[in-house]
Amino acid sequence: MRSITISGLKDPSYEMNEAMNVLRTNVSYSGESVKLVAITSVDENAGKSIVSFEMMRNYANAGLKTLLIDADLRKSVFSARYGAVVDDGLQFIGLADVLSGKGEINDAVYKTNIVNAYVLPIGSNYVLNPTPLFSGKIFSAMLDVLKKAFDFIIIDTPPLGRVIDAAIIAPNCNGAILVIGANEVDYRQVNDAKNQLLRVGANVLGCVLNKVGAENSRYGGKYKYYSRYKSEYRY
Ligand SMILES: Nc1ncnc2c1ncn2[C@@H]1O[C@H](COP(=O)(O)OP(=O)(O)OP(=O)(O)O)[C@@H](O)[C@H]1O
Ligand SMILES: [Mg+2]
Repeated sequence: MRSITISGLKDPSYEMNEAMNVLRTNVSYSGESVKLVAITSVDENAGKSIVSFEMMRNYANAGLKTLLIDADLRKSVFSARYGAVVDDGLQFIGLADVLSGKGEINDAVYKTNIVNAYVLPIGSNYVLNPTPLFSGKIFSAMLDVLKKAFDFIIIDTPPLGRVIDAAIIAPNCNGAILVIGANEVDYRQVNDAKNQLLRVGANVLGCVLNKVGAENSRYGGKYKYYSRYKSEYRY
């Protein structure tokens, strides 16, 4: 298996770590069969990619063999944000290559320098219109293969309010989690996003309320996480 080194790693804050522990516990109460989740949001910048990455790290630290799939093929931030470099120096093969039949899944899943954490990045190129790639048979077949190889899989997707990708990806997963930036969207928008997910047959597990109390934080302006369990996800 190929490997990448993530160089820009900082330890999660105490609050982040606690929030991720709560999220992992709550997801586990959703059922043992929930091992593949899509992370989405109403709009951009809610914190999907951060939540996805921190979930991967938390699940991995808990001893689960965990895979993060970067499915934001239009606007991935993974490599730039975390300074990820392929160790063999060869081409960055990823999800876009696999879904378009130009690469093999075995070359696109990378072991990372975090124990138990693996990533499937987008690859070396952005894709202008990736929607058909998620609708094809290769995507669901790929997920079936990966589910057998990993204990837990997290898919970072684009915002529901912008492109349809997440609504296509989510029904292929065991559950979907909505990341909500506190005070960034209103009740109606969140409800619409939830209903959109339900209409396509996704199992909505709940939401993560992100950026809570940022203005009062003692941690240098870092945000706090607050996660809500399904039973509190009522409107
Ligand atoms: N809990 C948090 N703590 C610190 N910074 C955060 C937090 N949540 C979000 N941010 C910041 O907000 C910005 C957006 O976060 P992120 O990229 O995770 O959002 P996103 O929902 O994936 O965005 P996009 O829709 O563009 O994919 C980033 O600059 C990130 O550093
Ligand atoms: Mg993102």
